[in-house]
Amino acid sequence: MLNHNLHASSGSSNEREENGAVSTLRFVLDNRLVEIAFSETGKFKPTTTVLNYLRSLPGHKGVKEGCGEGDCGACTVVIASAAVDGRLVYRAIDSCLFFLPMIHGKQLIAVENLAYIKGHEQILHPVQEIMVAHNGTQCGYCTPGVVMSLFSLYKNQRNPSDSVILDALTGNLCRCTGYQSILESARKACSSGVDDHFSENEIAIADLLNKINSDKRTIEIHSAGQTYYKPFTLTEALRIRGENPTAIITAGSTDVALRQTKKKELLPIILDISDVEELNYVIEEPDHWKLGSGMKLEAARSWAESRLPALFSALSVFGSLQIRNVATLGGNVGAASPIGDTLPLLIALNAGVKVRSVAGERVISAEQFIVGYRKTAIRNDELIAEIIIPKPAPGVEIWAHKVSKRKDLDISTVSAGFSLKPVDGRISEIILAFGGMAEIPKRAFKTEKFLTGKTLTRENFEKAMKVIDSEFTPVTDARASAGYRTIVAKNLLLKFFNGLPDYILNQH
Ligand SMILES: Cc1cc2nc3c(=O)[nH]c(=O)nc-3n(C[C@H](O)[C@H](O)[C@H](O)COP(=O)(O)OP(=O)(O)OC[C@H]3O[C@@H](n4cnc5c(N)ncnc54)[C@H](O)[C@@H]3O)c2cc1C
Ligand code: FES
Ligand code: FES
Repeated sequence: MLNHNLHASSGSSNEREENGAVSTLRFVLDNRLVEIAFSETGKFKPTTTVLNYLRSLPGHKGVKEGCGEGDCGACTVVIASAAVDGRLVYRAIDSCLFFLPMIHGKQLIAVENLAYIKGHEQILHPVQEIMVAHNGTQCGYCTPGVVMSLFSLYKNQRNPSDSVILDALTGNLCRCTGYQSILESARKACSSGVDDHFSENEIAIADLLNKINSDKRTIEIHSAGQTYYKPFTLTEALRIRGENPTAIITAGSTDVALRQTKKKELLPIILDISDVEELNYVIEEPDHWKLGSGMKLEAARSWAESRLPALFSALSVFGSLQIRNVATLGGNVGAASPIGDTLPLLIALNAGVKVRSVAGERVISAEQFIVGYRKTAIRNDELIAEIIIPKPAPGVEIWAHKVSKRKDLDISTVSAGFSLKPVDGRISEIILAFGGMAEIPKRAFKTEKFLTGKTLTRENFEKAMKVIDSEFTPVTDARASAGYRTIVAKNLLLKFFNGLPDYILNQH
């Protein structure tokens, strides 16, 4: 039964006050303020996932573990954060990849919180009621996750389009019901436009979260062989980074958490920068944009829709909404994956990566930033602070495309980020950056050289496709053979040409 009155739990907090740091987490669950005081021998370690935390509690077994790696959505919960307007912002996340300290200062909403008791009657949340009415569940394993994704959609959208609904459900796999009845439930639930019981408490919860978040002391947890730092200011983040060169930085943890959940690594020292708000911004200058490294990919996607369509399209097939709601731009660059989806595009855009340390800052081009397989040029006292994206000049064509086995929630087999500056029907400048063709995202320099100065004709692009043959020696792996990757890279070049707008092709 939901308690609609907010009150603090009575647990003692055992605060450590060394260096002004604290070791207690505070968040809202079941309409109560919950405090977790960590200790060497406590029940939870700092990298306990929110999934395992919830399942350890009585009455919270609704959340399920399917894959443990962000692919199935059975573990979906909703996190509400206080917004500047005094209300709450609701985000669906995969709790299997979210470390417990990441919910500090937020409301954690689990599937058990959706229904409530009125008199002797259980009142289902509108999304639950409609899922039942439309036969949106069979075995039920995926259902709590589906319901939480729909709940998040319900809180964020009125009358969403089908593409918005599909996007909200991309991260939820269902093996037996069939998606049609789930889609119909979503359409119906989100068209109703009514407030729910969460609306009643929203202002009070936002106030409470604001109070928790006004305490900017770093959280420092020493437990079970791990040290976990959670600073709230950039100054503190840089200090901790400087003092702990071996710390593993984590922002959204959608890569880092897999080291624990899949590779079973013990992460000894963690620097969690997920709540350093100073890293979460967009600044527009006359000739470039500055995107804070902590900007969530879903926020970057919304931002890019009207400004940088190629980035919007790359992020629209990036993971799932649950992943994009927490994963950051800095994390995608920092992961330095040969198939990281933003990197080819950032290279094509001539983007810069600004890194900062206590000693100062420097800017490295996105291309120079990746120095080897999952290796970057960052020093062990630095953090990625922002990504600087030059505004494309008028007439310059920027393009990104990802080829994967599935359109949604799949990693790239080969991806491309291209930029083309045409002058009078000729190629004045061209950058062709590929992911999945080498151990790092890489430019096709020979092909670029071949095309530069040539007229913009299909014939020239077909000739350029042959140059790509000699440009890369990709690997054969479980995802694709080397030969297939090369064919895809060549075809991406042709696809780019075929999609060029008429005003570019008819310039001569
Ligand atoms: C289900 C699933 C689907 C995915 N789909 C895609 C996809 O479609 N395309 C894709 O490219 N990737 C995908 N990924 C990988 C991952 O989500 C992305 O790389 C994401 O951008 C990582 O961001 P993060 O904030 O979660 O990074 P984290 O996991 O927190 O960190 C990633 C790396 O970057 C470093 N890092 C993070 N922030 C900083 C910083 N500010 N300064 C210095 N170093 C930093 C970390 O130390 C770590 O090495 C997927 C992952 C999952 C689990
Ligand atoms: S358990 Fe599959 S996404 Fe978390
Ligand atoms: S209802 Fe069985 S997996 Fe979805």
